[in-house]
Amino acid sequence: MSNAEDHAGTRRDFLYYATAGTGAVAVGAAVWPLVNQMNPSADVLALSSIRVDVSSLEVGSQLTVKWLGKPVFIRRRTEEEIEAARAVDMADLPDPIAQNENINGSEPALDANRTLDEAGEWLVMMGVCTHLGCVPLGDAGDFGGWFCPCHGSHYDTAGRIRKGPAPTNLPVPVAEFVDETTIKLG
Ligand code: FES
Repeated sequence: MSNAEDHAGTRRDFLYYATAGTGAVAVGAAVWPLVNQMNPSADVLALSSIRVDVSSLEVGSQLTVKWLGKPVFIRRRTEEEIEAARAVDMADLPDPIAQNENINGSEPALDANRTLDEAGEWLVMMGVCTHLGCVPLGDAGDFGGWFCPCHGSHYDTAGRIRKGPAPTNLPVPVAEFVDETTIKLG
């Protein structure tokens, strides 16, 4: 079910309850959304950190998960993607900073400073264009990485901005492997 449908379902349910007549039913239903809004802690806690099963992710494919209301790309890169990312001259990068929350913020944007593992197979990034927030497309663009069609920003196979109006590399959020097939975000 899509988010939109999800939303629609929730909305329908709420409208149903809100118009369900008078008396105890209506009162009970009217109170529930208020209580729910006043007690968000469980929801917020659950979302601040999530675990993603990546066992079914093939080399050369990616998974998009929603975390803290935003898309996160988890890509399992091919050897070619890794080599292409590592062959890039730092002088060719519009944004020379790694933009990786797992390391010191001012580290250079070397490929090795952006990946989750030393071999460079796993790349985890926020899937939000740093220009104005569209969601870039994978396996696309002039550099074989991601392409944002909104205003034409091209990112390479390490998610670094290479061409177009986006000012910075796609940010790497706090993430780690907690076992061989599970990545924890946050
Ligand atoms: S939002 Fe991506 S290029 Fe403008």
